[in-house]
Amino acid sequence: MKWSWLFVNVAFMISLVLAYHRDVYKTCDESGFCKRNRYFAQKIKENREIFKSQYSLDPDTIQKDAKVAIVTGNIVKLLPDSSTRNFPVEISILKGNNIRLKVDEEYRSTPNLPIKSKLVTPKRYDETPKWAFKASGTELPYLEWSPNISVVEQNDRLVVKYGDDSQYKAELTYSPLRLTILCGDEVQLILNDQDFLNIEHFRSESENKDHLSDFEIDDNMFHDDFRDTKSDLLPLGPESVALDFTFNNFQHVYGIPEHADHLDLRDTTYESVPYRLFNVDIFEYEPETTMPMYGSIPFMVASKPGLSMGLFWINGADSFVDIDKTSDPKHTKTHWISENGVLDVMIFIGETPDEINKNYGLITGNVALPQLFSLGYHQCRWNYNDEQDVLEINSLFDKHQMPYDTLWLDIEYADAKKYFTWQPQKFPDPAAMLKELDHTGRNLVVIIDPHIKKGYFVSDEIINQKITIKDSSNQTYVGKCWPGESVWIDTHNPSSQAYWDLRHQKSVDNEFFGKLSTNIYLWNDMNEPSVFEGPETTTPKDNLHYGNWEHRSIHNTFGLSYHETTHKSLIKRLAGSERQRPFILTRSYFAGSQRTAAMWSGDNMAKWEYLQISIPMLLASNVAGMPFAGSDVGGFFDNPLPELLTRWYQTGIWYPFFRAHAHIDTKRREPWVPGDPYTSVIRKALQLRYALLPVLYSSFYQASQNGTPVIKPLFYENSENMDVYTIDDEFWLGNSGLLIKPITSEGQSSIDIYIPDTKKYYDYTSGIISKETVQLKRPGVYNKKVTLDDIPMLIRGGSILTQKNRPRRSSRLMKQDPYTIVVALDDNTHASGFLYVDDGESFGYEKGEYIEVYFSADEQGIHAVVTRGSDSFAESLQKVQIEKIVVLGYPKVVEQVLVSQDEETVGVFEIDGSNLVIRKPRLRINESWDINFSGAENIHDEL
Ligand code: NOJ
Repeated sequence: MKWSWLFVNVAFMISLVLAYHRDVYKTCDESGFCKRNRYFAQKIKENREIFKSQYSLDPDTIQKDAKVAIVTGNIVKLLPDSSTRNFPVEISILKGNNIRLKVDEEYRSTPNLPIKSKLVTPKRYDETPKWAFKASGTELPYLEWSPNISVVEQNDRLVVKYGDDSQYKAELTYSPLRLTILCGDEVQLILNDQDFLNIEHFRSESENKDHLSDFEIDDNMFHDDFRDTKSDLLPLGPESVALDFTFNNFQHVYGIPEHADHLDLRDTTYESVPYRLFNVDIFEYEPETTMPMYGSIPFMVASKPGLSMGLFWINGADSFVDIDKTSDPKHTKTHWISENGVLDVMIFIGETPDEINKNYGLITGNVALPQLFSLGYHQCRWNYNDEQDVLEINSLFDKHQMPYDTLWLDIEYADAKKYFTWQPQKFPDPAAMLKELDHTGRNLVVIIDPHIKKGYFVSDEIINQKITIKDSSNQTYVGKCWPGESVWIDTHNPSSQAYWDLRHQKSVDNEFFGKLSTNIYLWNDMNEPSVFEGPETTTPKDNLHYGNWEHRSIHNTFGLSYHETTHKSLIKRLAGSERQRPFILTRSYFAGSQRTAAMWSGDNMAKWEYLQISIPMLLASNVAGMPFAGSDVGGFFDNPLPELLTRWYQTGIWYPFFRAHAHIDTKRREPWVPGDPYTSVIRKALQLRYALLPVLYSSFYQASQNGTPVIKPLFYENSENMDVYTIDDEFWLGNSGLLIKPITSEGQSSIDIYIPDTKKYYDYTSGIISKETVQLKRPGVYNKKVTLDDIPMLIRGGSILTQKNRPRRSSRLMKQDPYTIVVALDDNTHASGFLYVDDGESFGYEKGEYIEVYFSADEQGIHAVVTRGSDSFAESLQKVQIEKIVVLGYPKVVEQVLVSQDEETVGVFEIDGSNLVIRKPRLRINESWDINFSGAENIHDEL
């Protein structure tokens, strides 16, 4: 029996790999709703002079809420047979300079609509915000009318003023129907600028031909002729929603992950496939394509000097985004097309991209502050075979003096891939294994996927409790995945939560998790959901979910609902322990996933081009509010040569989520496997990641508060320089002032680092202080010779970094370690920096158990101002010292260094060129302090 299952699994794996073709996935042309909308758009472009839109707003229907900034009205669609359909519209202003437009279809709420299936909810799906937003509809941060926020009705339009100083305006013209967003008097964005608005209204198959305008085709409206989706019932016929958005005087738009493409989104006019947002299992994806991938965030950021915008298309159905940068190169025109759902969109506006991220976070939430351990290094492969293997790998890290925090178990740990069981021969005593890992300060992550093998207690229970995904005839859907025949838990069903809690709870009755300690966390994979023989590798779109919603309506939010359900279960499981913050890695995700999970970019390959594309992919994720993101270090498929593996580690230390992973058919490749010089170089890279954990953790804190990306594209900091808008192989680490340019090509002996401004930069290659500085007269390239050892990085003058330089086994053992502070002075002898510290594991910080340290430096000295939420946490850091302060670029000779915290003492220092090193200043991190330089004299005449 076991052998036959093994055979089935291997056969599936082989067939999957062999079956990979681009043509498994629909192009726009093969996707009825996309083809129809592109056709419609093209026809309008070709017949601009004679085209008259069917849509207009009836001014008599406009109503203004008495208190809250909400205006409602009715859009009328005139059909070719002269009948009309109503589309109620709502425009609202929310906190964070954001305007929301929502349009529904009245007719879809008519009783007894003649639809093909009585099992399907006839209304347009409007529950995407339930998954994407951090608050429920009633708690949304709607603003009230005020002197700043007002609305005026004019003849042909409605003008809404908003923004802190009423600096933004939204003008809604009735016919032609447009929504124009202005900053001052300058037009920034026009909705429906090209009249591509299209809401395919409900019609029966027989009346269809009378309802089609001359600008439409009827491709695949009531059936689907694509090879894998022929059986799709399409019970509601055509129901797509589409709208165009012109970003005025913006040449660059970003975001809408996940795509294996460059950061600056490309023109798709001449491509057969627009960017597609449809969560699929796309193993061995191709770099530099617009193909769909595992996750979707329909959030786009447009940026230009002085102004940024965000466009959040709140729709979890299969969607395409066309980008036109060529018809008028001054502007970027975008066309958004979704298969169904209400039309729901939010437009953000602000001076900087950071502001857009902050305001987007007000709606969808920011990344959860992760446990510190999860920012350490994760060691994964498919698979570590048994307990002995796990513990041996664990001790080999110690033997090779390499820090790491977490070991991962892929699907083979479970008995016949029955999640919530352990393979009894290989894992006879998981509790003891976990204890041993815990003893060395380490954690375990195990995989639990949403497909549940048929015929054991978990699948029996979810079938009995009626919490499975159903097929179109309302029977439990059965498909194939790793365990063979499987059923899927429907995490869109609220009743799934209680069951999932039971499976994850810490109790003696829980055979799997019950006895285990709290150093075990989760990996939710295959949650697109992936179905081996399913259409486009996923479940049929006419499958049914809770509420009788078709899978079609909720597809891109399913992965989120799955990891969020796991998250809620882990919150309960960990509640009484010290380590309260859950850690979950998810493959499939949507807008809002940042609140509860980290993501990684799926099944890449051990090739240089995958290392290269990982950087723009993770930057796009950061731009789109999902900063806890990583790529498989080393490449999932195939065996990397040692140089590629080494360069991947040196790049991976900058991934916010840093994990090595490998396919079951690959050779072992733990960091010591390649041998020296590679192993030593990788060790140094790992140690650098750990030394910079305070910087990284502080960046995550800022991300969790303000939505700030953890790795930032150059245009975030240097928006005035038009050359930075296309750079995506170099980035900033949060707000730290560290500029990083990983080496991602074979045999590289020199590197061009782009310096985006005329500020002073200090060479900090591999985190080692050197005397080399760079300051260019105008932004441009700094060329540097490099060896295998080198990790190119610079510190921008004006920054202060905090590091922990003592090598340890894992982050948990670094808590009481002393800090080294690196002060990099700018041309005006100024610098500032920020450090955030808490216990790294509990929710105590929500009650004030944290400290924030604000550093500043000038010619006279260095200062640290500590704000502490609670005294008790600050006191727990009583022994945490600053062991060294290095001041880079100090322009004067110092005679004396006076250090004051509890009392004033004289500090020990040495001068090394223009660097000043203060050793053991006897300062604690938990309280404010000052250092004053006395006797300072100029040493550089020119200064
Ligand atoms: C697919 C995932 O992308 C991969 O990382 C994992 O190893 C396999 N599933 C097996 O679980």
